[in-house]
Parts: sequence; C-alpha cells; structure tokens
Amino acid sequence: MSATNHFELNTRSYLQAIDRFSTPGVASHYPSEYRLHHWRDKRERQCITTALVGIPRGSRVLDLPCGTGRLTRLLVDQGFRVTGADVSEAMLAQARDNHATGRLSASNTFPHVKFEHRDIMQTGYQDGCFDAVICNRLFHHFTEHATRLRALRELRRISRGPVIISFFNSFALDAAYRRLKNILLKRVLHDRIPIAFKTFHAEIRSAGFRVEKKIAVRWGISPHWYVVLD
Ligand SMILES: C[S@@+](CC[C@H](N)C(=O)[O-])C[C@H]1O[C@@H](n2cnc3c(N)ncnc32)[C@H](O)[C@@H]1O
Repeated sequence: MSATNHFELNTRSYLQAIDRFSTPGVASHYPSEYRLHHWRDKRERQCITTALVGIPRGSRVLDLPCGTGRLTRLLVDQGFRVTGADVSEAMLAQARDNHATGRLSASNTFPHVKFEHRDIMQTGYQDGCFDAVICNRLFHHFTEHATRLRALRELRRISRGPVIISFFNSFALDAAYRRLKNILLKRVLHDRIPIAFKTFHAEIRSAGFRVEKKIAVRWGISPHWYVVLD
C-alpha cells in the first residue's frame, strides 16, 4: 500500500512504519498476547491499566494501531466497547483471527470487536467519535516532528476523552547506552529513536493537549513511557 495514495505526508518514518508491518510474514511473528510471566510485558500491561483508570465501563475505546490485537482482551476486560484499527491489512487479518480464536475458547459472552483499516494520519472517523483512544507502540517509530504532530492532531480530533500514547523517552539509562554504542559503531539510526520529553511535550501542547499523567515502564532505565493526554 502506498501512503501517498491517501494524502500528502511523505516523511520517511511515516512510510517506513507502514512498510515495516505490511507483510503476512511480519504479522504472523508479531506477538498476539502479552506473555503473562514476562516482567516487561507485565509492567507494560500495568502501565496501560493505570493509564486507563477513570475511563468508565461501557466507554467506546479505539485501539490505534491495534496490530495483531495484543491489547484487545485487556481492553475488553475493562468493560469497554472496543474498536481496533490499523493501517496494515496483514496485522488486521491476524487480529481478527486471534480474536475469533479467543472468542471460541472463552465464554460466548466475549463481546464483538470491530477491526478496521485506518491510517492514524487521516482516520476518517468523525470528530469526537470515541470516549478514549490508546496508541501503543507507534510513536517511537515516528522520528520527525511533522509526523508526530500530524498523528497527535488526528488523535485529538477523534477523541472526546483521554488519549493514551506510548513513546520512547531519552531520559533512560538504556537510551544513553544505545546512543553511546551507536556513536562508537558509527551507526545512524532511522527508527525507534528516543526523544526528550521536552520535545514531545511541546508537540503535545501544539496539538492542543494537556498532559494529565506520565507513566514510566521502568523509571530512569527503560525509554518506554506512557502519557495520558486530555
Ligand atoms: C509495533 S506495532 C504495535 C501494535 C500494537 N499497538 C501493540 O502494542 O502490539 C505498530 C503498528 O502500527 C501500525 N502502523 C504503522 N503506521 C501506521 C499508520 N500510519 N496508521 C495506523 N497504523 C500504523 C503497524 O501496522 C503496526 O501494526
């Protein structure tokens, strides 16, 4: 799929993020559930659950990008009416399949979840269509200011409630270690580049949001953080 078919945003990281997850091979290897015994998955789930506090049961929640539907069960278990959306047909196919399989093995009350093909830059949803939106593990692929800002503005437009976003914060030992390693190896990174919170905060404000909560997956160690925006 060519991103330029939709609208003009030809930034490298935007196109790269679409490409990276576009094939069935990648989708079939992408995790479809959080591993219950792995500390990193456990911590990520805890952070998301904390970020969701205060969103009432029955709320209409969009999971964008939903990928293979890794968050679906967590969101459904909170009593939300869930829509999953992603730009990759391959990831969506996997999500639908995972959900159908989960539904068969669980009780028949496991609710229906819609999975839709959408681009975060121009979703086609109506203004304020959702009570909340979660955007997990996409912004760390967006390396340019223009790309992040465009996505932030679209998320703000479609949510009438909180927007939860994960990003990679440069305030982390792991990020410093990787930065040093790349300098020594003379490697230039084009993806997953942690950014200063100050930089992201300026973009958040510029998109018209206010930061309600900041949650670190492992404070000072992991670059993976969550912000809850209002
Ligand atoms: C690292 S995966 C994260 C998936 C899921 N949120 C999770 O936590 O497992 C990144 C996802 O972003 C999707 N993606 C990339 N660019 C996108 C865009 N412009 N609009 C919507 N989804 C996009 C990819 O197809 C992929 O499924």
